[in-house]
Amino acid sequence: MQTLIKRPQNGLHGRLTVPGDKSISHRGLIFGAISTGTTRLTNFLPAEDCLSTLTALQQLGVKIDRHETTVTVHGVGLHGLTAPTQPLDMGNAGTATRLLAGLLAGQAFDSTLVGDDSLSQRPMQRVQQPLAQMGAKLDLTAGHLPMRIHGRALQSATIKMAVASAQVKSALILAALQAPTASTIIEQLPTRDHTERLLTAFGGQLNTAADGRTITVQPQPHLTGKTVTVPGDMSSAAFFMTAASIVPGSQITLPQVGLNPTRTGLLQVLQRMGGDVTVTPQASVGEPLGTVTVKAATLKPIDLGADDIPAVIDELPLVALLAATATGVSHITGASELRVKETDRIATIVAELKKLGVQITEQPDGFTIDGRPAWQVKTATFDSHGDHRIGMMMAIAGLRLTQPTTLAHAEAINISYPGFFTDLQQLCPTKEALA
Ligand code: S3P
Repeated sequence: MQTLIKRPQNGLHGRLTVPGDKSISHRGLIFGAISTGTTRLTNFLPAEDCLSTLTALQQLGVKIDRHETTVTVHGVGLHGLTAPTQPLDMGNAGTATRLLAGLLAGQAFDSTLVGDDSLSQRPMQRVQQPLAQMGAKLDLTAGHLPMRIHGRALQSATIKMAVASAQVKSALILAALQAPTASTIIEQLPTRDHTERLLTAFGGQLNTAADGRTITVQPQPHLTGKTVTVPGDMSSAAFFMTAASIVPGSQITLPQVGLNPTRTGLLQVLQRMGGDVTVTPQASVGEPLGTVTVKAATLKPIDLGADDIPAVIDELPLVALLAATATGVSHITGASELRVKETDRIATIVAELKKLGVQITEQPDGFTIDGRPAWQVKTATFDSHGDHRIGMMMAIAGLRLTQPTTLAHAEAINISYPGFFTDLQQLCPTKEALA
């Protein structure tokens, strides 16, 4: 699928409520499934990735009803899942795969996880090896999917994580719930803590030490279904925050965006770059929430290192785009995790931004960008490479160009944001942005 993008002459304007958070939608389904009683998720994200989790849980014997963005999960309890009759297809969803690996490792049946071509190239030893310390047996195919999970009784453990990954941490937490005694998980760097927050909300017990990296999980909780309102996805809001910052004349307001501090790295990046961003928190239960207002601004370059990365991991394509418009050199390092996302994002960011004439140099663990406000565009035919976030990043880049641009493989955007182009159009009041 190709999509044609045109420049909005007067910038982006208006108010947009972005769809629900992807990470929290996955986790809401999983915690609903392993609780007893009914869980109701409102503002659930009905994107391909989360629907992979929903379907997999149904194949594990959980009754789930969905009406658009409202989902009802009839929980079966931590030990109530049943053996699937066929391999569980995770599609493109890395989060679903890693989290379900941790959950299924401790169940009383075997299961198999498969995925699409991209997911089948992503590393799975990162869950296999630490889960093995709890006695789990996961057979991989040369380190990748298909993954055969031999469900068995798990032991508790103290595990030092080798990568800064919320997916791996969450897999370990879900496994630790099934051990007989408490387990401790030590992160390299703090990563998104939605699993910890939701586990606590559903009645589980877990303690995060003052260092923010040492998590002790109490096993065998009795989890009870509840109502969860999923906040707007900061990672989706980030595309419009970036667009408003770099398209002259823009001013937009994004209400009800999730403001979990483990996810708000892009807000800090924009502030450090001289962006015009206002954040108004609002009262909320569980996850912090608020309104973000962004106006166009002249940006400065930025340097980011390993400690900065987890809170902005999914927004690094946008950091690259912001840096490409800022006069001067930006350095992004400590981001080698980008190499194992839906694509090798260091390679795909560099390949796509070079089409705009951006001076970007690939580094083993990031990139260096010598930015400037006006680019010497080489070609206006972009490609998502099958990666939703690369596709949306280039759609936003296209808004700055005087010529119309096309985006190949735009359908990849459905993985996390099926309504992306409709929502973008809503912020372009003169309706000239998209065709
Ligand atoms: C996610 C964690 C991150 C992020 C992904 C979603 C999650 O991955 O990139 O999009 O929901 O836990 P890692 O934890 O592997 O960095």
